[in-house]
Amino acid sequence: MSDAIDVAAVVGSLRRESFTRRLVQGLISVASPTIHIEIVGIGDLPLYNQDLESAPPAPWLAFRERIRRCRAVLFATPEYNRSIPGVLKNAIDVGSRPYGKSVWRHKPAAVVSVSPGVMGAFGANHHLRQCLVFLDMPTMQQPEAYIGGADKLFDGAGQFVKPEMRDFCERFVQSFEAWIRRYAG
Ligand code: FNR
Repeated sequence: MSDAIDVAAVVGSLRRESFTRRLVQGLISVASPTIHIEIVGIGDLPLYNQDLESAPPAPWLAFRERIRRCRAVLFATPEYNRSIPGVLKNAIDVGSRPYGKSVWRHKPAAVVSVSPGVMGAFGANHHLRQCLVFLDMPTMQQPEAYIGGADKLFDGAGQFVKPEMRDFCERFVQSFEAWIRRYAG
């Protein structure tokens, strides 16, 4: 896996049976061997408090280092009240500081939003994109991924129920790989 593109996946749900994480696992299952997507945990990051920067908590340092090391970031978010969950915003904030040392800067990114509802978490997707503009992350525009009906995408064995969804996920990861290579260096 050493030559594969190292992609950190940041998932905005801590729920054990998260549909969002399951979708990311689906993306991983259709990815080519040339791209390695790893889910990076954000559940242990203390809430951002600038006072802690004098002696940053170990989970902050480990997270910043993991993101610094990766070539690109895949954000996968559920929608909470038409925006992104606080846990995801916290991870974004932790990675963005100290001032001038953001680990997000210039990392190619992609966004997938996930909901059991019909609108596919469109609101969260675009709130997240607003953050990524400020963080100076070149973010893939197409294909957009607003994944609705997320509670019905996979069977009990974790396989895609519909081949069209599997194909879409495959195309999404292929497009992201092309996007990352375009921004390499
Ligand atoms: C939700 N949910 C939700 N869904 C949606 O489509 N739009 C929304 O604005 C909201 N708002 C919302 C707020 C809060 C606090 C919760 C807990 C939930 C429902 C949400 O899509 C559902 O719980 C998903 O299962 C969350 O994603 P994971 O945890 O399955 O990945």
